[in-house]
Amino acid sequence: MEYLKIRGLPYDASRIALGTWAIGGWMWGGSDEADAISTIHTALDRGINLIDTAPVYGFGRSEEIVGKALASGRRDKALIATKAGLDWSSGKPLRNSSAAFLRQELEDSLRRLQTDIIDIYQIHWPDEATPFEETAKALDDFRREGKIRAIGVSNSTPTQTDRFRSEAPLATIQLPYNLFERGIETDVLAYAEAHDLIVLAYGALCRGLLAGKITEETRFEGDDLRNVDPKFAQSRRKQYLTAVDKLDQLAEARFGKSVLALAVRWLLDRGKIIALWGARHPSQLNSIGEVMGWTIEATTMDEIDRILANTIKDPVGPEFMAPPPSQGA
Ligand SMILES: NC(=O)c1ccc[n+]([C@@H]2O[C@H](COP(=O)([O-])OP(=O)(O)OC[C@H]3O[C@@H](n4cnc5c(N)ncnc54)[C@H](OP(=O)(O)O)[C@@H]3O)[C@@H](O)[C@H]2O)c1
Repeated sequence: MEYLKIRGLPYDASRIALGTWAIGGWMWGGSDEADAISTIHTALDRGINLIDTAPVYGFGRSEEIVGKALASGRRDKALIATKAGLDWSSGKPLRNSSAAFLRQELEDSLRRLQTDIIDIYQIHWPDEATPFEETAKALDDFRREGKIRAIGVSNSTPTQTDRFRSEAPLATIQLPYNLFERGIETDVLAYAEAHDLIVLAYGALCRGLLAGKITEETRFEGDDLRNVDPKFAQSRRKQYLTAVDKLDQLAEARFGKSVLALAVRWLLDRGKIIALWGARHPSQLNSIGEVMGWTIEATTMDEIDRILANTIKDPVGPEFMAPPPSQGA
């Protein structure tokens, strides 16, 4: 495993973090708690020491499962990154990053996670109805009180992040980034480098597409978000699967690796980035070792870009995931 420093944390974080959205079940067709706990333990055994969760994942369930998995002696082996700023009391998540709401959320997260300090506390989605300065100051108060160690934003533009940074020291910025979703290359990557922010790249496997197991026939259960993800609709899925196939052949021919390893290595080779790898079964983490100990040189990077340009004629981003703005925005 490779590790890197995040300002404010007591030790370096692994460059692959475990993403626990699916572990919460909601929008992933449900999940099994025993499997989820075993996945978290497997991640720790394989050198992952950063776990990303959020209150909204399963409406508290993901945080509770992370808390259970780390209880009984494992809390000091993991850095917990959670989030705040989505209020689901009306039944669906709405943005709310007011200081009063964040204070309540912080106490709820600490309780569910069975801890007295959160390592990285991130604003999940920017809330235009609350001044960013108010939100940032609230998080900085939590930091001074010793309830969180480092502050992060998520899904924020550089302009929004600038306003945030004027009031609080920022350590991380979390955004979608993978071979198929490269929007942050236009602005955020350079911004993060200029301000020494670590990028937590979410959807590292593009919700499983880049793991190389999904076919045209694969169907998703219940409320699984891939039933509404435009990349998985039949017409586009074909194009993305052709790209996966060609990337898999390239990975095998050039490196003796799978497309999954290529996808995660590609992310790690783009900058000071941590790849958030979502998993809910222990076996899904089997290929972690395959990602380490090599790099993708410039000519292969170019070849990857050519494959993407030649196969995906009708690209679409991850915008479908954005929750609605709060009432006042
Ligand atoms: N800040 C935000 O707004 C935001 C948004 C999205 C995600 N995130 C964070 O980023 C994390 C990662 O993103 P994500 O979970 O959405 O997507 P992801 O990491 O791209 O994909 C996760 C899914 O890929 C499949 N998968 C993983 N390993 C596999 C393997 N070895 N073989 C076959 N399939 C495999 C699994 O699906 P199945 O279990 O169905 O097979 C898994 O649930 C999240 O868990 C969350 O912590 C943050």
